[in-house]
Amino acid sequence: MTDRSMDAADEQRRNFLKVGAAVGAAAVSGVAKAAPLQTSDIGKSPLKQPPLPWAENALEPVISARTLEFHYGKHHAGYFNTLAGLVKDTPMADQTLEEIILASAGDPAKKALFNNAAQAWNHNFYWTSLTPDKTAPEGPLLNAIQRDFGSVDALKAELAKVTTAQFGSGWGWLVSEGGTLKVVSTSNAEVPFTNGQKPLLTVDVWEHAYYLDWQNRRPDHVKAVVNDHLDWRFAAKNFA
Ligand code: FE2
Repeated sequence: MTDRSMDAADEQRRNFLKVGAAVGAAAVSGVAKAAPLQTSDIGKSPLKQPPLPWAENALEPVISARTLEFHYGKHHAGYFNTLAGLVKDTPMADQTLEEIILASAGDPAKKALFNNAAQAWNHNFYWTSLTPDKTAPEGPLLNAIQRDFGSVDALKAELAKVTTAQFGSGWGWLVSEGGTLKVVSTSNAEVPFTNGQKPLLTVDVWEHAYYLDWQNRRPDHVKAVVNDHLDWRFAAKNFA
């Protein structure tokens, strides 16, 4: 390593330590805790990739074991590995993913930190948004869907449309904003909860999510996921 690259590495390290201190201060001041997000306890740690909640072949033929081998085993694992390097020996190692995301969102100097923490969290949330079981909205969530979309079928159609239309890489979401249900999409690693929207379900439309199984047929893939594999029990828990 040259002196110059060592200086750069030292500088980067100092910056990350500063970020960690800022995250700690935010948590102490209650800024991070004020976020509207209280989803399940999945993936709290920035250091540990949670296991898949079902077998790798459980969602076939919509999402194959081969896709998951890369998507979970390489892409998602890669975000955690990169993040582990960024937070190592800093106070952020003891923060939650959500705290790191909230403390780095919108800051160009913390872009790598945000991207890897958000993609780690997004995929944690995505795996638990999916299920091999047949589920359907019930109770308060069903009432809210009927109030805000007219019917479950209308919501599914809107979710599929908005998710498919996301330009380039990103995510489609069912969110609750002030108790009202909305369908939104985000670009790249962006997450709705930095905008005060509480995620209930998500669908990944990065090409790595479907290209091995569906190639360019993103609309068909999204429709199959939305119709057959969303876990409405998870959505109801998040909505409660
Ligand atoms: Fe993905």
